Amino acid sequence: MASVKLTDVKKIYDNKVTAVHDFNLEIADKEFVVFVGPSGCGKSTTLRMIAGLEDISEGTLEIDGEVVNDLQPKDRNIAMVFQNYALYPHMTVYDNIAFSLRLKKMPEDEIYERVTNAAQILGITEYLTRKPRALSGGQRQRVAIGRAMVRNAKVFLMDEPLSNLDAKLRNQMRAEIILLRQKLDTTFIYVTHDQTEAMTLGDRIVIMKDGFIEQVGTPQEVFDTPVNLFVAGFIGSPQMNFLKANLEKAAGGYVVDILGVKLPLNEEQNAVLEQKGVGSQEIILGVRPEHTAVLFDNAEGAIECTIDVNEMMGSELHLHLSSQNNDKIIVRLPTVDLTKEQRESLTFGNKLYITFPAKVMHLFDPATEKSLIDA
Ligand SMILES: Nc1ncnc2c1ncn2[C@@H]1O[C@H](COP(=O)(O)OP(=O)(O)O)[C@@H](O)[C@H]1O
Ligand SMILES: [Mg+2]
Repeated sequence: MASVKLTDVKKIYDNKVTAVHDFNLEIADKEFVVFVGPSGCGKSTTLRMIAGLEDISEGTLEIDGEVVNDLQPKDRNIAMVFQNYALYPHMTVYDNIAFSLRLKKMPEDEIYERVTNAAQILGITEYLTRKPRALSGGQRQRVAIGRAMVRNAKVFLMDEPLSNLDAKLRNQMRAEIILLRQKLDTTFIYVTHDQTEAMTLGDRIVIMKDGFIEQVGTPQEVFDTPVNLFVAGFIGSPQMNFLKANLEKAAGGYVVDILGVKLPLNEEQNAVLEQKGVGSQEIILGVRPEHTAVLFDNAEGAIECTIDVNEMMGSELHLHLSSQNNDKIIVRLPTVDLTKEQRESLTFGNKLYITFPAKVMHLFDPATEKSLIDA
């Protein structure tokens, strides 16, 4: 088994940049955890501290309950795959994969066993005698993964392994990493800046910004209950819409007021707000593009918008709208049930009405940027 535990881990580079602040996380044996966040948020630094390639400035790192802060990388039983593959150009694929095993003076017949087994899992058997330059990007990345696999490490670290691949290959390799994970059955820590990769690969996602953890949760949790504006905007594509609104505490319960249109909250939301003692206040209302209901006519609870852009995506339209106080809203509208007349009305400058059911509304405090319900 291999659990990984970081307690108050901090990284201060010698130029006094604090790259990682008080990182606290427990990763269970065989868990697949993804660190995700924009460039520079400290993902690689954290991963490199776990690998032992970077000193830990403060805090403790434990693997299987043992503090390993001062253990050399080679003694941590960790394998790492990098974005740039880092293959030896003058060696064959076989020798690249065998390299670390030969350093350990493993017998050649056992090396053969492991290398051919890894090559088979990765579908690169026919390339074993080639040099890396005679391989495509995806094949090179498989070799890099193979090199990590043969070490039978307790923890598998991957730093943006798919970033250098084109979109199609990236999707294919993403599926292969899911398969690989099932075959290897080991602990994975995977770094990416791509929220789709994080959502599809992770058992749990750690969302980072400026060296801080913003939220940790399953893909479903961080999508359904983002704790702050950053997470809400980062997870989901196209990103969540944010509108200026007011929360009003009335006799019958809380109501969201958008330019005079009043949308009631549900029982569950009311209970949380009541319990937290939230009063009437300005809010930022968050609603995902796929959760926005389109009404073709004005009705109670309808918010009037103007159509700016209509993007045809095939199975759905992405409508870019402006509200009457000029908040920008993107709506995803499936095309399958639209009449010809409705389609033709969805053009620049025309009016369109939208509304939000209670359960899709996320309420954020403009001052703290935290969710009023989920934080
Ligand atoms: N060797 C280094 N020396 C000084 N600062 C560094 C070094 N490596 C990274 N940093 C800084 O630490 C922060 C986090 O970097 P990094 O962990 O590489 O982010 P990410 O992988 O999320 O893009 C950035 O501000 C970066 O400039
Ligand atoms: Mg990085």
